[in-house]
Amino acid sequence: MKRKAIRRSGSLKGQVVLLGLTGSIALYKSCELVRQLKEEGAEVFCLMTEGAQRFVTSLTFASLSGNPVATNLWDESLWKVAHLECAEKANLAIIAPASANCLASLSGGFAGDILSATVCATRAPILIAPAMHDRMWLHPATQANVRRLKGYGYTFVGPEYGELSTGTKGWGRLAGPETIIAAAKKVLSR
Ligand SMILES: Cc1cc2nc3c(=O)[nH]c(=O)nc-3n(C[C@H](O)[C@H](O)[C@H](O)COP(=O)(O)O)c2cc1C
Repeated sequence: MKRKAIRRSGSLKGQVVLLGLTGSIALYKSCELVRQLKEEGAEVFCLMTEGAQRFVTSLTFASLSGNPVATNLWDESLWKVAHLECAEKANLAIIAPASANCLASLSGGFAGDILSATVCATRAPILIAPAMHDRMWLHPATQANVRRLKGYGYTFVGPEYGELSTGTKGWGRLAGPETIIAAAKKVLSR
């Protein structure tokens, strides 16, 4: 499927959205994000790293999105070349939650798994919603990766300040689904 023309309105209706899912404790929140993206009229295709699949099953995201989930770069059962086909059809790619590992991988241009290979291959705009412990977020390497990714033209939403999974407070919480969707509309309206 070829990428549809992006409407200037910033509406998600009819837009093909790739949702990249990585190994974060916040991953369960992306189930609600898929539901809200669908409510906005987007066609959602999920891509999961191996880390993500340790937190929530692909079955959950397949059921919520109504589409097959890409979990493996080498799997030919769903698509001939999954990363290229997903990259081609996307109007927008959202990575939520984005792990520290994912930020490092994308900033280095690595393409060793289904998500990083697809991001490397797409020309769709990229929106990143990081989620991690604040010590990981504030690490100079993570901050340098964020600066580099912004330099590539990627947009960031969050992380937000608040209670983390450890019970402590800090910058690292995944932005809420409404905030991510508002940011997605803004990216699409550009
Ligand atoms: C219980 C648990 C929770 C984790 N939560 C996070 C997280 O919120 N953010 C993060 O960047 N890494 C987190 N990690 C570490 C990542 O899962 C790990 O770096 C993994 O390699 C990420 O792989 P991926 O980026 O390919 O999905 C967590 C690990 C464990 C065991």
